[in-house]
Amino acid sequence: MSERQAARDLRGALIGCGFFAENQMRAWQELPGVKIVALCDRDPQRLAHFQDRFGIEATYTDAEAMFEALADSADPGLDFVDIATTTSAHAALVPLAADRGVDILCQKPFAGSLETARRLIEYCTQRGVSLSIHENFRWQQAVRRTIEALRDGEIGRPFFGRISYRSGFDVYKAQPYLARVERFIIEDLGIHVLDIARALFGEVDRLSCETARVNPAINGEDVATLMLRHANGVTAVVDCSYATHLADDPFPQSLIEIDGEQGSLRLRQDFVLEIHDVDGQREVRDVSPEPPAWSEAPWVPIQASVLAFQADWLQARRQHRPVETCGEDNFNTLALVEAAYRAAASHHTVIPERWGR
Ligand SMILES: NC(=O)c1ccc[n+]([C@@H]2O[C@H](COP(=O)([O-])OP(=O)(O)OC[C@H]3O[C@@H](n4cnc5c(N)ncnc54)[C@H](O)[C@@H]3O)[C@@H](O)[C@H]2O)c1
Repeated sequence: MSERQAARDLRGALIGCGFFAENQMRAWQELPGVKIVALCDRDPQRLAHFQDRFGIEATYTDAEAMFEALADSADPGLDFVDIATTTSAHAALVPLAADRGVDILCQKPFAGSLETARRLIEYCTQRGVSLSIHENFRWQQAVRRTIEALRDGEIGRPFFGRISYRSGFDVYKAQPYLARVERFIIEDLGIHVLDIARALFGEVDRLSCETARVNPAINGEDVATLMLRHANGVTAVVDCSYATHLADDPFPQSLIEIDGEQGSLRLRQDFVLEIHDVDGQREVRDVSPEPPAWSEAPWVPIQASVLAFQADWLQARRQHRPVETCGEDNFNTLALVEAAYRAAASHHTVIPERWGR
């Protein structure tokens, strides 16, 4: 990186001005040393909404036209692109950015199949651009503090885990497409919870899964229960539901239980982390998120995690290191999603694919 580049703000473009991208934009605007200089959405109304809301003049309804216009302009080019569209657009947008040598952040689910994921990861590697997947759940403050407690050995070697996400929140209101998709909770939400399982316990050797559709008004499964056998010997249960009615709905919190040889750890509702030791003593920690000024209930933990992920991405770029959830890493999370659907269809245990194996 030249001194001139180091001195100026990083310049990025956002592609996909939809529901969730609002959080990404607000986070970029809060972070120092980075600027979104152009917006792209094929829907002119969404584009106009983002232009007004975030005060960005350069807008495009076509990504290729955007890259060409920015390459031709007198301004320094783009350093990165933040792809916040739904998955089906990624296979075309990632190569477009990679061909221009622009680093890429891309929303989950990164690709519609492992074959496409592999092709896109290799494409980026061949063109020397970094590919980072926007996987923010492991960056939620409560989840992060849980990961750190485990990694610091506070309960010794783990042998059991449960990561649970159960809610009746109406996710279809802000994201109506979720009611139409054939694959719903594992691909949309379970992918995050499976990524937390990998962040806690590492890679998965075997996986089984059962699903159900409780809500008759949707096409996909809204309940999934998975059992994972991790390579480190941990057996973990990952359970997800958008059909669970609770007076104190924990949306959008993931609750975690881990049993280790030297104690147990419980991440309870409302950001309480308990560490239990072998003598039956309990330490209670407040692991509440620090709410960004723009955050609003019930989204606070998620919005704070978007800010944390993007801050780490910036730092990683300055330190010339990949983010935890680079393309190769996220391939293994995506592989758990694929394995889960195969296991649910066959009612058999499945060995997930793994990057480089
Ligand atoms: N990380 C998280 O916590 C989290 C939360 C919600 C959604 N998401 C993910 O974010 C992605 C977007 O979800 P959403 O709910 O915001 O969807 P959305 O439909 O509200 O927004 C997507 C936007 O992308 C635009 N778009 C699609 N294809 C395009 C193309 N080729 N070029 C330009 N614009 C294009 C659409 O017009 C739309 O405005 C999904 O993959 C979803 O899984 C992640």
